[in-house]
Amino acid sequence: MLDFGLTQEQEEIRRLARKFADHELAPRAPYYDKTGEFPWEHFKKMAELGFTGMMLPPEHGGLGADTLTHAIVIEEIARGSAVMAVMLEVHNTLACESINRFGTLEQKKKYLPKLASGEYLGAFALTEPNSGSDASGMCTTAVLQGDSYVLNGSKCFITSGGQAHLYLVMARTNKEAGTKGISAFLVEKGTPGFSFGQPEEKMGLTASHTTDLILDDCRIPRENLVGREGEGFKMALTVLDGGRLGIGAQAVGITQAAFEAAVKYSRERVQFGQPIANFQAIQWMLAEMSTDLDAARMLLYHAAWLKDQGRPMTTEAARAKLFASTMAVKHTAKAVQIHGGYGYIKEYNVERFMREAKATEIYEGTSEIQKLVIARNILK
Ligand code: CAA
Repeated sequence: MLDFGLTQEQEEIRRLARKFADHELAPRAPYYDKTGEFPWEHFKKMAELGFTGMMLPPEHGGLGADTLTHAIVIEEIARGSAVMAVMLEVHNTLACESINRFGTLEQKKKYLPKLASGEYLGAFALTEPNSGSDASGMCTTAVLQGDSYVLNGSKCFITSGGQAHLYLVMARTNKEAGTKGISAFLVEKGTPGFSFGQPEEKMGLTASHTTDLILDDCRIPRENLVGREGEGFKMALTVLDGGRLGIGAQAVGITQAAFEAAVKYSRERVQFGQPIANFQAIQWMLAEMSTDLDAARMLLYHAAWLKDQGRPMTTEAARAKLFASTMAVKHTAKAVQIHGGYGYIKEYNVERFMREAKATEIYEGTSEIQKLVIARNILK
């Protein structure tokens, strides 16, 4: 049976997220873009709505929502604020999911209720200055000393860096063991020897702080190891499959916002004595945008559905992210084009959408890495 319908619950949560995005996120997004202030008010509100930790089981404070429902929420949040979408997506798919899937019962009891209630914001630290696409090339080390691990090294481009309370940090526990020499650790903000760089000055998503993490003889309890030693790399790639769906959903949401702005503007803008929507040049751009949006949603929802069935979805997640982020970059630029000169100024928001869309081709694996993942699967 092929069923394209969403459940009543999914429709309701979409309406809830959309209302929040329309009434609270979208009106404030230009302010946050301009100031780069961290939008704690919106994070707290997302927690009140139950979106933080929404895929966690109810016994740990979550809603027990599935991946598809989460993708729908991220899409709607991104329609109002791409900043809040990436913050929530990293918190849910990378931080919460890592602990929920691989953590001990003690770690779950200690951290998940705090992450679900929004008392804690979670972050994920894989990337290093010399280890981006080649994630296993990391140099940060973790050495067991008595009942503690001592971490040394630095991470970069960490979403919510400096603001998040809890970081899943990947570090090398065995220099000779390649991908099997990497382990995952929970590091709390405030731990001695753990500090942050200044927020990077970025092209877009300014209010989503991105910083370095510095680990200088940072001593953490032995029980903060997640899973077993040597399992950190696989763990990171496993949760990144889900994270890539989150970024695909973010790309769809940003493009949807740009599309709606382009439709509205083309109906209102009169040139040569008629609305520009009457011209085929504009119509074709709108038609292509809506077609690609639909195709991206299909790839995304299908991959999310596979994950919810417990089936492999690495390739499908990579395809969804690749397609959604490519079309986001292409069509947010088209939305600027439709707005002409007005598109190039900030008042109409589309230039912000274009800047924000670009990140979706880069983080959680560049488009080239998604192609590598897809091609490896074809040729294996
Ligand atoms: N799920 C589970 N296991 C996986 C996996 C997956 N998706 N992909 C690979 N693995 C396993 C492999 O089976 C292998 O295990 P065995 O040795 O037991 O066979 C092991 O992991 C190593 O895999 P590879 O040999 O394929 O490793 P590689 O070094 O060639 O790297 C890569 C693979 C796909 C290039 C990987 O390095 C990668 O994804 N790079 C991109 C990094 C990335 O996405 N960074 C994002 C940072 S987080 C972020 O951006 C968040 C944010 O702030 C927004």
